Amino acid sequence: MNRTILHIVGARPQFVKYFALSKASREPGQGGSSALKNVLVHTGQHYDYSMSKIFFDELGIEEPAYHLDVGSGPHGEQTAKIIQRVEEILAKVKPEMVVVYGDTNSTLGGALAAVKMGIPICHVEAGLRSYNKAMPEEINRVLADHVSSLLLCPSDTAVASLQKEGFKSVMESGNLVSIDDIERDVRAASVNMDHPLVANVGDVMYDVLLHASSIALRQSTILQKLSLTPKKYDLLTLHRAENTDDPRVFKEIVQFINSVTRGTTVIFPMHPRTKIIYAKSETKFESNVRIVEPAGYFDLLALLKNSSLLLTDSGGLQKEAFWLRTQCITLRNETEWVETLDGGWNTLYKKYTGPSSPSADQPPVYGDGRAAEKILAILLKFL
Ligand code: UD1
Repeated sequence: MNRTILHIVGARPQFVKYFALSKASREPGQGGSSALKNVLVHTGQHYDYSMSKIFFDELGIEEPAYHLDVGSGPHGEQTAKIIQRVEEILAKVKPEMVVVYGDTNSTLGGALAAVKMGIPICHVEAGLRSYNKAMPEEINRVLADHVSSLLLCPSDTAVASLQKEGFKSVMESGNLVSIDDIERDVRAASVNMDHPLVANVGDVMYDVLLHASSIALRQSTILQKLSLTPKKYDLLTLHRAENTDDPRVFKEIVQFINSVTRGTTVIFPMHPRTKIIYAKSETKFESNVRIVEPAGYFDLLALLKNSSLLLTDSGGLQKEAFWLRTQCITLRNETEWVETLDGGWNTLYKKYTGPSSPSADQPPVYGDGRAAEKILAILLKFL
């Protein structure tokens, strides 16, 4: 019997998400198992050292078995190359299941290649919605969900969104599942693309954060390198196409950042996409904004934990700020991570009225830090 699970990653956040599964599969005991053979495929969507290899080095992720070197390009071209090259790998490896993560072009390309070959797909971080179809990520995640057999969600909201779209088979009424629930209830034989299974397993990024934050705070020397004092600076990230590609939107956001952070040092690890656009743009940041190289995972966690405020359009960082108890302003008109808005930890920038005191309590809205174990337990049912 084929016992191979093929994982497709290509962009920064996917390396972190895959790490959660790879770590759980190396651990003996609940969830982890040597019965499962992980084959890792890196599409090459991200290729700079600071966007890719540093994550593998820091987290100790195994070298991908296949590297597809698709590189950058227009969406159609990039996605098409991913489909074509993943298809070749699938024909060779013949996995039992393909796992795709999140909402990038690597997610969509990987999912389309697999579904066309009749290979079942497991989508990790299923059910996220911004209800803004102008975002490439929204198209990627909706389409990936609708060709998947296993839709593994990070939150109650994600499950509810899938239910609204007609997904009927939902474990435990959408409540966070336990390993026992999985052992008892998952019947692999009854799951396929026409009868997909939805489960709330929690967020794999929370698993990774629980593991990595203390290591990051111990190991990272980024604050010394940048001569920063904890809680005396803000952190900024900005890279989404919806924010960078339209000069009017870009200008509006830069002006907002300039006005909110006036007088405070802002550390901005600039994404290569933004670097290209910023070099040509007439709109500029004020001198308190310090542009630095993209940061690795550990440095970013250390910067985030010690910052007084995060301004970001990243999805993952909104949650990491929430877990590390740093206030966040999201540089978007909507967020998929609506739970972070409750209690005042996160605010959409157009609704921001000034500093506030978030509530001390944070309900466990993204699981219990065991999402990866639960995903493995579900996958093992299919072996
Ligand atoms: C992608 C995802 C986005 C995710 C982000 C994480 C899509 C549609 N978007 O956006 O959802 O939040 O990854 O970072 O998949 N570039 C380099 N070096 C690199 C990678 C990119 O120079 O290693 C430059 C290229 O000029 C490229 C541009 O950045 O054209 C955009 O890269 P791309 O991977 O297409 O999208 P991201 O903006 O990174």
